[in-house]
Amino acid sequence: MKVLLVNGSPHKEGCTYTALKIVADTLNKENIETEIFWIGSKPLSGCIGCGACFKMHKCVFNDVVNEFTEKAKDCDGFVFGSPVHYASATGAMTSFMDRAFMSDEAGNRSLLRKPAAVVTSSRRAGATATLDQLQKWLSYSEMPIVSSRYWNEVHGYTPEDVLKDKEGVQIMEVLGRNMAWLLKCIQSGKNNGILQPKTETKIFTNFIR
Ligand SMILES: Cc1cc2nc3c(=O)[nH]c(=O)nc-3n(C[C@H](O)[C@H](O)[C@H](O)COP(=O)(O)O)c2cc1C
Repeated sequence: MKVLLVNGSPHKEGCTYTALKIVADTLNKENIETEIFWIGSKPLSGCIGCGACFKMHKCVFNDVVNEFTEKAKDCDGFVFGSPVHYASATGAMTSFMDRAFMSDEAGNRSLLRKPAAVVTSSRRAGATATLDQLQKWLSYSEMPIVSSRYWNEVHGYTPEDVLKDKEGVQIMEVLGRNMAWLLKCIQSGKNNGILQPKTETKIFTNFIR
């Protein structure tokens, strides 16, 4: 089993990475493979609503989003991390999530019903608003949302600060163990004939008809 952890920070090995690394190390101890996937620091386009993904089964912009969706096929669980920028996920992470989830829904459905969690790093405030924002993408793809013993946030301005946030570190460790437990439960269910619900054709209304 493998978990893909997305680092939505412009810093490859900053605070968000430090939080994700704790989750990854905990998963490894539970014999679950991990990969930390950095979205990079180059400008990322948002979704332009062109609908090309419904024909191409991938995003029309061939960048880290398509790299992620390719990797997602072979993964069983996900963690999406973002630093807090003005009490929200970063602009790049928002663009990444819009395009990754839209093109996955239009394509391979590699995210559908796989367990996932969200994580934030912030210096001081805006974490819960950001967690709420990030969880919206997960619930749209019917992903069981994995929780911890508090909200999944770490605090700091540097990776060293994050490691000093002892409560934040514990929250990440508990999150890793909860994710491992859920993945093993799902695997055991599958081995015993418990299948996923059938995916229904979507009813799509827009409030006027
Ligand atoms: C543009 C920008 C906006 C920020 N806004 C907030 C904020 O609203 N609240 C906060 O606590 N920290 C804010 N910060 C600080 C970062 O969230 C914090 O340092 C974070 O841990 C950095 O994570 P990283 O090293 O993974 O990028 C902001 C930083 C930047 C660059």
